[in-house]
Formats: sequence, C-alpha cells, structure tokens
Amino acid sequence: MTDARLRFPPGFLWGAATAAYQIEGGVREDGRTPSIWDTFSHTPGKVLGGDTGDVACDHYHRWREDVRLLAELGLTAYRFSVSWPRVQPTGRGPAVQRGLDFYRALVDELLAHGITPALTLYHWDLPQELESALPGGGPAGGGWPERDTAYRFAEFAGLVAGALGDRVEMWTTLNEPWCSAFLGYGSGVHAPGRTDPAAALRAAHHLNLAHGLGVQALRAALPARARVGVSLNPSAVRPLTPSPADLDARRRIDALANRVFTGPMLRGTYDDDLLADTAGVTDWAFVHGGDLDVTRQPLDFLGVNYYTPAVVSAADGPGGPRHDGHGASAHSPWPGAGDRVAFHRAPGELTAMDWPVDPTGLKDLLMEYTAQAPGVPLYVTENGAAYEDKPEGGAVHDPDRVRYLHGHLAAVHQALLEGADVRGYFLWSLLDNFEWAYGYGKRFGLVYVDYDTQERTPKSSARWYAKVAASGELPR
Ligand code: NOJ
Repeated sequence: MTDARLRFPPGFLWGAATAAYQIEGGVREDGRTPSIWDTFSHTPGKVLGGDTGDVACDHYHRWREDVRLLAELGLTAYRFSVSWPRVQPTGRGPAVQRGLDFYRALVDELLAHGITPALTLYHWDLPQELESALPGGGPAGGGWPERDTAYRFAEFAGLVAGALGDRVEMWTTLNEPWCSAFLGYGSGVHAPGRTDPAAALRAAHHLNLAHGLGVQALRAALPARARVGVSLNPSAVRPLTPSPADLDARRRIDALANRVFTGPMLRGTYDDDLLADTAGVTDWAFVHGGDLDVTRQPLDFLGVNYYTPAVVSAADGPGGPRHDGHGASAHSPWPGAGDRVAFHRAPGELTAMDWPVDPTGLKDLLMEYTAQAPGVPLYVTENGAAYEDKPEGGAVHDPDRVRYLHGHLAAVHQALLEGADVRGYFLWSLLDNFEWAYGYGKRFGLVYVDYDTQERTPKSSARWYAKVAASGELPR
C-alpha cells in the first residue's frame, strides 16, 4: 500500500510570489518615476476598465501587514520584485537611497519572521525613460529592442546587489522574458504596447544579453553563498495530432516560446530552425560576436512559471483560431509563425482567465528542465489560478483554487519522484493584485483584497496551503 499522503523533502520552500507594479502603488513617492507600465496603464484602452497600478494593494505602505500575513500562514519563502524606477528613476546613474531602503526594510522584516526572501530584479517595470529616450530609439522608442538596455539592466542589478547582497541569498534576473519581448513588442497587449515582430526578436536577444550581463554583475557584487537564477515561462506545447504538419507547428512554437531563451541561456546558441523560421522577419544581425558566451552563464537554479499548456496545429489559413491565452490583439506574439500555427483550447476545466487546468504540463516541464539542465536545482517560481472569488459573511470560500493547487502540487511531487530536483514552490499570488492588461478583475490571491478599503481576507485556500506548508505533506 502506498502512503496516503504525498510528502515533500525536508527544507522544501513553501512560498508565495508577487511583483512590484502589481501590488505596491505609491507610484509617485520617494523619487519613483513612471515605468512603461505606468504609461501603458494610463493610456486609454490598454487595460480593462482603465485600471492602473497607482494604488494597487497599497503594499508600499502596508508591507508590514503583508509580511505578517505570510508569517501567519507559516510560509517559508516570499518572492517579490524590485521596482527599477523606484531604485534608479532614469534607468541610469546612482541609486535613490529611499528606494533601496524600502526593500531593505522589507527584507529585514521577512528575515525577522524566518521567511527566505527571493528577489526578482525585473518583473516588467522598465523605467519609461529607457523606453523613450535611448540614443537611436527615435520615434519608435528604445527599450528592450535596443542593446543599451541590457547594459543598463546590469548596472541596476549591481546597484541592488550592492545594497541587499548581505541579506538576500536568492536572486532572479528576469521574470518571464517571453512576455516582455513578445507581448510587449509583438502583440502589444503588454507595455510598452508596440507591435513590431522584428523589434520583439531584438528585445528577446537583449533580454538574454541582460540576463547574462546581469548574472555577471550579481556574481561580482554578491557573496559566494548567493544563488542566482532566472524565471522563465516555458510553454508546455503539444501537437493537436501526431501529423507531421502539427508536429512542425509544435516545433515552431517550442522554438519561439522556449528555445529562444533556453538556447542562449543554457547552451549558448540560437537554434538553426529558429533562425530559419524567422528569416523573413529579421537577419539577427543584432547578435554580436561573443554575445552567446555572455548569455550562457552558470546558474544556481532555474525558475519555472506554469499555468496552462498550449495545444497547436498547422494553421488552416491566416486568422485561424487563437487560444494561446495571451490576450486579444490583431497582432500575433509569434514572429514568423502567426499565420502558420493555430492554437487550440486544451481539454480541462477553465479558470477565470479561460486557461485550461492541466497539471501534467507542469510535471512535463520540470522533467524537461531536468534533462536540459542536469544538476541545476529547480523552483516553481509561479503557479496558481484566478477564480471569481466573492466574500460572503467575512469569508472567501475558493474550493476551485484548492483543487487547482492540489493537482499542481501533486504534479510537482510526481516530478520529484521521477528525479527532478525541485527545491520549492511559490504560489502566485500572495494577494489579489493588478493582473496587467486584465486589471483588478482577475483575482489570483491566496488573500482577498477589497480594493476600496484595502482590507485583506485570507481565502479558504490560504488556510489549506498553510496546512500543507506546516506539514510538508499533501493530502491525497
Ligand atoms: C505571470 C506573471 O509573472 C505574473 O506577473 C502574472 O500576474 C501571472 N503570470 C498571472 O498571469
């Protein structure tokens, strides 16, 4: 007989995750300047309901309360991001002390509660100044399509490491660079909202370069015990049928969603098929000699963000179905593949994002990373779901989320059994928050936020997750 409970290894981190722009608010305080998300969210028509991150969860003022929530839930780790324009308002030059002080106080509060801080340097809030004003940017803008942004990022990484390296051990360069490049500059559903497929590929390369230069800057500034990694959102991409045409569609999306980052970061290469598929879009001349040695840095861990799988087939013609879960846009986020690949809805129950629930995708990705990066520890740096949560009589009952979490944690456990070295799980998210182009309508939190009063109410899933964290076991 098997044990009735799924037991996780001792020391496994039980965490929750957030990101600066999604929770902080306080966007004009203490010298912070606008990021591309401030500009984008204040542009009519870009975010549902005209929502912005101006106030968000007011975490900039309520951070002590939020750390207390983490502690009450017994979580052992907290993943947060540093707002670049709070620390380095123009994206260049010296750091603003008050910006650094905010994160230092937050980290100290976490440590005082025995919670491991996991710091992400870039979770999408590029200083607007770098998007607008780069030399050579011109009217089309600067930002990630410009090489200089990668060097600016490395400088920012060094500043934050210099200030917090004595107290933060877990460092992540970028969060989901796929979204920054392809939703920000391809489909335009994310900031800065540009729709230029060649710019999206340039952005992808400069994000890879930023990662490599950022790791170098971190290693130079951090003590030896620090661990440095990156959080990617690999696509668990499946062919609709085993036909050669559908397998080829799978290969294309695997190249554009996954290998465009893991190639340079893990192997120091852009695969030939990726270069060939996108040859009509760009000649990749922006990849300079030596870049791929910089992008491939030894990493101490890889972070996997996972929500839902993708199912693809060869397109039956331009304008075929688009169920890639990345928002409505007339522009494809898939340069060179937009009219060759159709996206289908995977089977399974849907979350409030209309994302099918399928935990096997998470297990598959963890096994794939285990094969691709042998010996590199893995963390699930994001996983979770939005549901239509409603407070009733002072409580929020969210059994759907508990089912979602149970299924995905069981998948992590299965990956552990099959040999994946998974060291922790960060649930997205601690709080309901600003869900980018969807605004505040989509609630991913363990803790419900009433945006009128800023009152926080742990949902029933929070109680459930607290028990899992306390026992290190998942009830079957
Ligand atoms: C990925 C992102 O990193 C996070 O910011 C976002 O809110 C969640 N996924 C949910 O879409």
